[in-house]
Amino acid sequence: MTDWGLKNRLARIFRQDGKTVMLAVDHGYFLGPTSGLEDAAGTIKPLLPYADALMPTRGIIRTSVDPLTATPMVLRVSGGNSILDEDLSNEGITVSMEDAVRLNVAAVALSIYVGSPNQKETLLNLTRLVDEGQRYGIPVLAVTAVGKSMGRDVRYLALACRIAAELGAHVVKTYYCEGFEKVVKTCPVPVVMAGGKKLPEPEALELTYNAIRRGAAGVDMGRNIFQAEAPTAMIQAVSAVVHDNETPKRAFDLYNSLKSQSKGGRKAKLKGVTASKEELSRH
Ligand code: R5P
Repeated sequence: MTDWGLKNRLARIFRQDGKTVMLAVDHGYFLGPTSGLEDAAGTIKPLLPYADALMPTRGIIRTSVDPLTATPMVLRVSGGNSILDEDLSNEGITVSMEDAVRLNVAAVALSIYVGSPNQKETLLNLTRLVDEGQRYGIPVLAVTAVGKSMGRDVRYLALACRIAAELGAHVVKTYYCEGFEKVVKTCPVPVVMAGGKKLPEPEALELTYNAIRRGAAGVDMGRNIFQAEAPTAMIQAVSAVVHDNETPKRAFDLYNSLKSQSKGGRKAKLKGVTASKEELSRH
């Protein structure tokens, strides 16, 4: 089978239930030091054991991810724009496939901007990556980026996801919308949901639940996890919805219980430190 490597890489990202909880930490490629990722290594380390896959940039992999990790990497390989641009769609490919192979990634990811001034270039970026990925057995995840002036409705997202799949993307990442099931049904490859802006934790769990119920193959979520009050509790709660079919309410209960356990743990540790300092001052 010639695409064995490609299938094997996809199987590292998606668990046997066909779903994934991917942790997106690639925001800095155009946003700079995003809140919650200022110390990327410190943020990623405790979350990594709970993520089915991590989505970083090349710079963050090299500097901030333990190379001994077993968690598969979905490497962002598009960029060249910044939040200062009027039009964000001006992206090119930023990493060679050779370096992606050297980093042993499970997939590469890029943004496409359907309907934007750079639609054609970003779609040709996708086809170029798919051709190069086929050569090395590396799957391609297409992110349907939405420009500032574009709507996130079912018509637009179904259009963008279908185009990505038609051009050869192996996985598509898109936003949740009213009628999300249509986006999934009309896209012949797995669709994972992007989290979007930080929401209160119960709402983020509700969003996850709705996406999974309507056919998402998981989430590729960033801010709603690493900006949560208790990020490690949040990723476990999201995972419970994705993999264990938990309801948003039960998942939020889990979140609260894990959050209080970790606070308890922290308090106990702090108490330990204080005690030993007191001990020291007596001597
Ligand atoms: C945006 O293009 C990046 O790929 C982010 O990784 C993506 O938006 C997912 O992160 P969040 O859940 O914070 O929206």
